[in-house]
Amino acid sequence: GKVAVLLGGHSAEREVSLRSGKAVLNALQEAGVDAFAFDPKEQALSSLQADHAFIVLHGRGGEDGTMQGALQLLGLPYTGSGVLGSALAMDKIRCKWLFQAQGLPTAPFLVARPEDTHYAAMLAQLGGKVMVKPANEGSSIGMSAAATADELASAIAVAHQYDDEVLLERWINGREFTIAVLNDDVLPIVEMRTPRAFYDYEAKYQANSTEYLCPAPLTAELTQAMQATALAAFKAVGASGWGRVDLMLDEQGQHYLLEVNTVPGMTEKSLVPMAAKAAGYSFQQLVLAILRQAGP
Ligand code: DAL
Ligand code: MG
Repeated sequence: GKVAVLLGGHSAEREVSLRSGKAVLNALQEAGVDAFAFDPKEQALSSLQADHAFIVLHGRGGEDGTMQGALQLLGLPYTGSGVLGSALAMDKIRCKWLFQAQGLPTAPFLVARPEDTHYAAMLAQLGGKVMVKPANEGSSIGMSAAATADELASAIAVAHQYDDEVLLERWINGREFTIAVLNDDVLPIVEMRTPRAFYDYEAKYQANSTEYLCPAPLTAELTQAMQATALAAFKAVGASGWGRVDLMLDEQGQHYLLEVNTVPGMTEKSLVPMAAKAAGYSFQQLVLAILRQAGP
């Protein structure tokens, strides 16, 4: 049947989604699948005529359960996580609560609402340096580090441009990793190394200076432990099918969950395709494996 590749959308990650979606569409068409692009910003969802939806929308309105709910009501089978897993994974604060409830490692944190202005106290509570994140964003949009009350005030103000709820996480000095999940199983770990302060939007999509190592140079023991944590996190938030779990490893060898992504980037240079390649899947094979999750 006909496959609609949902791409673009209204979120702050629209440009990334257009790139991801075009790569997926090309791969499907090259594999002989009857696929076409559908951008819910340009066309009304009610006009969508297809047998399956391949969701490559990032962020709000695409990755957060709303699109999944709409497709479900339209009776259109779709790839990836359902309504609950999508909604929970999009919300970094509720993810952290679930990680804690499951005994999974994640850095200490606070939630800041616009009326919370006790910046020095919040910083002190989290060890003096923090990462500030809007609760419901992706691609590091709206994120910055802060180590003084003034920096924290402006970092929170920036994050509040995207969200009423802002997450303050204790700063982790260490290495950044991601673990792709395909068919509810983990793929080889990817390590991202950037000379920038962290793996931000520029390091992700623009800089040539970002280095990727896959499989990540870790002991077999640590690899297994981190993969087990990632899979447990994926399940804790109710995600399913495919996705990507981001983690950090500090200088003491402790790993910490950052978050779960239910529609991770799918450009040819993105991390899930990189991990899939290390596991022996071409980009086209990866895309076809994800499509099969939407049923026959
Ligand atoms: N939010 C971006 C697309 C990612 O997780 O890859
Ligand atoms: Mg994310």
